Amino acid sequence: MAIQDKIKELMALREQARLGGGEKRIASQHKKGKLTARERIDLLLDEGSFEEFDMFVSHRSIDFGLDKEAYLSDGVVTGYGTIDGRLVYVFSQDFTVFGGSLSEMYAQKICKIMDKAMKVGAPIIGINDSGGARIQEGVKSLGGYADIFQRNIMASGVVPQISAVFGPCAGGAVYSPALTDIIIMSKETSYMFVTGPKVVKTVTGEVVDEEQLGGAMVHGSKSGISHFVADSEEEGISLIRKLLSYLPQNNLEDPPILNCTDPIDRLEDHLNEIVPENPSKPYDVKEVIHAVVDYNEFLEVGRHFAPNIVTGFSRFNGMSVGIVANQPNYLAGVLDINSSRKAARFVRFCDAFNVPIVTFVDVPGFLPGTAQEYGGIIIHGAKLLFAYGEATVPKVTIILRKAYGGAYDVMSSKHLRGDINYSWPGAEIAVMGPKGAIEILYSKEYKDITDLEERMKFLQKKEDEYKHKFATPYVAAKYGFIDDVIEPRNTRFRVIRALESLKTKKDVNPPKKHSNIPL
Ligand code: HXC
Repeated sequence: MAIQDKIKELMALREQARLGGGEKRIASQHKKGKLTARERIDLLLDEGSFEEFDMFVSHRSIDFGLDKEAYLSDGVVTGYGTIDGRLVYVFSQDFTVFGGSLSEMYAQKICKIMDKAMKVGAPIIGINDSGGARIQEGVKSLGGYADIFQRNIMASGVVPQISAVFGPCAGGAVYSPALTDIIIMSKETSYMFVTGPKVVKTVTGEVVDEEQLGGAMVHGSKSGISHFVADSEEEGISLIRKLLSYLPQNNLEDPPILNCTDPIDRLEDHLNEIVPENPSKPYDVKEVIHAVVDYNEFLEVGRHFAPNIVTGFSRFNGMSVGIVANQPNYLAGVLDINSSRKAARFVRFCDAFNVPIVTFVDVPGFLPGTAQEYGGIIIHGAKLLFAYGEATVPKVTIILRKAYGGAYDVMSSKHLRGDINYSWPGAEIAVMGPKGAIEILYSKEYKDITDLEERMKFLQKKEDEYKHKFATPYVAAKYGFIDDVIEPRNTRFRVIRALESLKTKKDVNPPKKHSNIPL
C-alpha cells in the first residue's frame, strides 16, 4: 500500500473512532440534552490543544457476541491538553459505546493518563457518563474499576482531581468521583447512587425515581456529595476551568498569582454598618466576602449544602485563597455535623494544594440536641478542628461578631496555629453568650429574688456587666489571642497585608505515616 493510501486509512480509522457508537447513538445522546464525550473535551480544553491517546484501542472480549461488536476507543476518550495554557489530563466516558460501560481496556486507558498526570504533576479531569461495569466482561471490569480507585487514592493530595458527572454514575462506579477533590453534576441529566431505584424497591420497599434518589440537587443539597449543581453541561465545564485557575498544578507548586488592578486599599464603608447592633439579628456573610475580595469575585463551593457555613475560592491582590465563613443568615451560623464536615474537607483541600485560608468568624457555638449528639457531632466537629490544626498554609482569621465556646477554638483560632487573627470592634469572644452565662453564674441569686421585675433588673444588670467585661474583643486581645482589632471597612487592605507577610511562611508537622483524622 502506498503511503498516501496508508494515510487515507489512518484518516478513515480516526473518523471511525470519532463517531464512537455511531450517528444514531450520537443523535440519541443529543436528544437527551447531553453532549458527546468529544464535544465535552472540546469545550473543556483550549482550542486545538487536545492530544488524544489510544484511539485505536478496542476490547478483547468474545463472550455474549462481543467478538462481533467492537468500537475504536472502546467507550472512553483520553488524552491531554491545556486549560488557560496549563497542562491537564482528561478522560471522557462515551455513552454511545456500550452505554459508556467500563471494560478492561477502557480502564487501562484511564489508568494510563492518570499515571502520566502523576509523573508530570498535572491535574486529572474525569467526565463521567456511564452504565457502570461492562456486564459482558464480568470481573475484568470490576478489576478495572479498582485499578482506577487505587490511582485516585495515590493521586489524592498530589494533583487536583476534578470529576464531572453528566449522565448515569451508579454502583461501584460512584467511588472514583467520590475519591476525587471536587464533583460537579449537571441538573436533570445526571445521577449517582450505589444502588438504583429497582434494588431500593426490592430491598426496602421504598419507591423513588433516579432524580429523587441521586439527582444533582439531591447530592448538592442533601448528601453534600456534589460540590456544584450546574444548570447545563456547558456551565459545568466552565466551572472546571474556573476552579483550576485557583489551584496549582500539583502539591509541590503554589497557586498562580494573577495581575490585580482592584485597589488593595479599597475602603468599604458599608462594612462598618453591616453587623446589626442586636446580636441575634442575622446578616449575609457573603456580602462581607464579596466586598473584600478582588473584583467581588467569589466561587462558592458547596453552595446548597450546609449553608450555615460558606466555603469557596477567591483572590486577594491576585493571590488565591480558600474562604471559610460562618453564615449568620442560616441557623445563626451555628456549627453542626454537616457544616463541620463540609468545612473540614474544604480546609484540607486548600492545605493539600498550598492555598492560604481566610476565615470569617461569626459563630454562636455548636448546635445542641439529641439529633446532633446521636449523629456524632463530637467526631464531626473534631474533623474541622483537626483540619485547621493540621493545616500548614497561611491562615488569616477575622472575627466579625460572635466567637463563643469551643467554636471559637475551632474556627482557625490562634491556638490552632492561626497566623494572623484580627477581629472587628463589635466582636464578642467568650465561653458563652451573656444570657446563658448569667443564668449559670447567678442561678442561686436570681432564683432568690421573688419579685419578677426585680429579678429582670438584676439579670439585666449582670448581663450588662458581663457584656462590658467579656463580650468584647479586648479580653482576647489582651492575651494576644487577637493580633489587632481592625476597622471593618479596612478589612480588604489588612487581609492583603497579612497574606503578603505570610507568603514565605514555613510550618511543618512532625514526621508520621499519616495522621488519624477522626473520620
Ligand atoms: C454493557 C451496557 C451497560 C453495561 C448500558 N449498556 N449499560 N452495556 N454493560 N453496564 C448498553 C445498553 O445495552 C445499550 O446498548 C446502551 O448501553 C444504552 O443503554 P440504554 O439502556 O439503551 O440507555 P438508557 O435507557 O439511557 O439507560 C441507561 C442506563 C441503563 C440507566 C445506564 O443502560 C442501565 O441500567 N444499565 C445497566 C446499569 C448497571 O446495572 N450497571 C452495572 C452496575 S454495577 P445499545 O446497543 O442498545 O446501544 C457496577 C459495578 C461496578 O457498575 C463495581 C465497581 C467496583
